[in-house]
Amino acid sequence: MKLGVVVLAAGQGTRMRSERPKVLHALAGRSMVAWVLASLDGLAVADCVVVVGHGADQVAAALPAGVSSALQAEQKGTGHAAQIGLGALDATCDTVLILCGDTPLVRSELIAQLVAIHVSAGRPATMVTAVLDDAGAYGRVLRSLAGDLDAVVEARDATPEQLEVGEINAGIYVADRAALEAALAGVGTDNAQGEIYLPDALPLMGGPVGIVVSDDPLVVAGVNNRIDLADCEAELQRRLRERLMLDGVTMTDPTAVFVDHDVRVGRDTVLLPGVHLRKGSTIGEACAIGPDCIVSASHIGDRCTLITTHVYESAIADDCQLGPFAYLRPGNQMHAGAKVGTYVEMKNTTLGAKAKVPHLSYVGDAEIGEATNIGAGNITANYDGFRKHRTVIGARVRTGSDCVFVAPVTVGDDAMTAAGSIITHGVPAGALGIARSRQSVIEGFTAKATARAAAANEKDKGNA
Ligand code: UD1
Ligand code: CA
Repeated sequence: MKLGVVVLAAGQGTRMRSERPKVLHALAGRSMVAWVLASLDGLAVADCVVVVGHGADQVAAALPAGVSSALQAEQKGTGHAAQIGLGALDATCDTVLILCGDTPLVRSELIAQLVAIHVSAGRPATMVTAVLDDAGAYGRVLRSLAGDLDAVVEARDATPEQLEVGEINAGIYVADRAALEAALAGVGTDNAQGEIYLPDALPLMGGPVGIVVSDDPLVVAGVNNRIDLADCEAELQRRLRERLMLDGVTMTDPTAVFVDHDVRVGRDTVLLPGVHLRKGSTIGEACAIGPDCIVSASHIGDRCTLITTHVYESAIADDCQLGPFAYLRPGNQMHAGAKVGTYVEMKNTTLGAKAKVPHLSYVGDAEIGEATNIGAGNITANYDGFRKHRTVIGARVRTGSDCVFVAPVTVGDDAMTAAGSIITHGVPAGALGIARSRQSVIEGFTAKATARAAAANEKDKGNA
């Protein structure tokens, strides 16, 4: 047996009401079609073709390496799409697995079981069905008295009695390639949609079709509108959270934690409500994340604390503290034990070990040495209106409150800057940089000013 796979993904998905091709809608950080392809993990697949049509270029461009596409220029039905896919499939594949691009909950266990049963039973085709409480718009599975498949009837073509049938076609099939090609050639378009229906080929396979009834109806759920999309997202989130919890992650309210499929979280880390972990982020062990954090395309070390903080494309080492209300834009690196505190925005900056930016600051395009403390309200003025420049601050530096560093500028190790200074020139190591006008004091000012004001009032009254 040499297995080829055809994924049907050319449909417009009209009911999604979207500019985006249906199979490119994202679930837990990856496209619907990528979820379907992931169900092939662990299966020996010789060739895989995705049939594309609506948004063909976009869909083809989103496919992983090793998966090719075939164009179905006009969508004449699932049977027609299967014919196009078969036409593009490696000629040496004698068995074909057909999946729909809009069933993202399908699991590799089910596919493996389907293929194994197909091979051992030796039927010309084997299909997956499920029994639903509400069979809705799915195709109904009509069986003979002996229990074999008679036909699949689409909901739109079904009689009221047929609509009562709870067993539905999941749209997942494995078949002898030559038999399927011959059967499809004999399928007409005499149905409500005037299309070539793939399930209509099943009774023409030249022998009884095997049926695998999935014990989990969710596995076969198809996405046709945004309500289905949200339901599938909820199910995928449930699976991903369960995997994390079984791996040793605590979630005080799992329904309020949202993770992408490729996120990793270490043991004994606690995820509080409102946490969103995205784009392959990795979180170390024994961290406390949340409430209300976004971590995207970032690495967080062990024992870090993040409270109400957003982190994008940054690398945070062990024992760091962030937030509440810190915003890390792309390109930051925080070394061990560093801290970014309340109302701090940081971008493209390296913070040395144990360096701190505790309050109300903007730090961009900067390098800050170890154990340096940035005072409250400091700003790196990194943009001169034309170009960005770097601020380099050494180790063990203490900057006063409300300093502005007009980049490019360098402050040496162990230096200090006075509060309220606009630092425009380098401060050497160990020096104090002070850049503000000296305070003057006017003795007895308040009394004199009060007397002057009283005299002016008297004069106004006299004039009235
Ligand atoms: C289909 C089945 C139905 C089954 C259900 C399971 C048919 C006729 N009906 O219905 O029995 O219960 O799936 O989810 O097969 N596609 C193409 N080209 C086309 C038409 C469709 O590539 O010309 C693709 C779509 O992009 C989609 C898949 O085939 O990924 C299924 O098509 P869809 O229109 O969603 O079929 P359903 O009405 O859901
Ligand atoms: Ca569908």
